[in-house]
Amino acid sequence: MKKEFPFPWRSKSFFDAMPESVLGIPAEIIAPQFKEEKYDLVVFAYQPWYLSPSIPATSFLQNPEFAKRLKDTPVVTVIGSRNMWINAQERVKKMIKQNGGRLVGNIVYADRHNNFVSAVTIQYWMFTGKKDRWMGVFPRPGVADKEIADAGIFGSKVLEALKINDLDRLQTQLAEMKAVDPQTVLMFIEGRAPKIFSLWANVIIRKKNRSLWLQIFKYYLLFALFIIAPIIVIIYLVAIVPLTGRQIREHKKHFSGVN
Ligand SMILES: Cc1cc2nc3c(=O)[nH]c(=O)nc-3n(C[C@H](O)[C@H](O)[C@H](O)COP(=O)(O)O)c2cc1C
Repeated sequence: MKKEFPFPWRSKSFFDAMPESVLGIPAEIIAPQFKEEKYDLVVFAYQPWYLSPSIPATSFLQNPEFAKRLKDTPVVTVIGSRNMWINAQERVKKMIKQNGGRLVGNIVYADRHNNFVSAVTIQYWMFTGKKDRWMGVFPRPGVADKEIADAGIFGSKVLEALKINDLDRLQTQLAEMKAVDPQTVLMFIEGRAPKIFSLWANVIIRKKNRSLWLQIFKYYLLFALFIIAPIIVIIYLVAIVPLTGRQIREHKKHFSGVN
């Protein structure tokens, strides 16, 4: 990025990234240098920010030189997330398609702890830069070390599929290996929250006193995450999940796939 996002994050810059992430507004990047004009396979790794592709991811995907190299090329996406990556991936799927690329695989890394626990520990990690157990009580934030160490199993599978030119079945095989595992409750949250984020983003982007509005959004987000979401999730689990098994399975299949 021409203007970096410093890590650890400050509260102001963390929330300031919301409107552009959600609205898919790219920032300037330093012109990428490519060794080749054409690649056998592109591996595109990115993080979701605010249920959307991060600003660096959006900016890179919209770079004409990169976009050119996606054309008629198989692509594997690798996601590093807290746990809510579904909406971002649906948008990345679209952008790859628009550039003429063919998504053949998706490998998702997420924090497997409870949604509310990881929401607390990721804040500790992002705002302090420390990836240890907060207060010695909470679990370590982020993707488990073992999953990172074992990542090669997916790499080997992708390489094998590329070598024998059998990329059409790759995602089914990756999904069987649990490279992607959409969770019912998170699918439910992600089905609704992006619309609300989009409303906030559209309001904030037009405001002159942006920092005041971002402060308001920050408190809204904490309230939504820790007060509203648990109540809605309980109602969903008790009243809706038992009646919508088939729909949930269909959604899981779609979000596990590459189309
Ligand atoms: C501004 C910001 C917003 C984020 N929003 C999400 C999100 O919506 N869903 C999610 O699963 N993770 C979210 N994360 C976590 C990132 O996707 C990622 O897991 C985390 O930044 C660690 O990866 P990194 O070390 O490559 O930055 C967010 C992180 C940041 C900094």
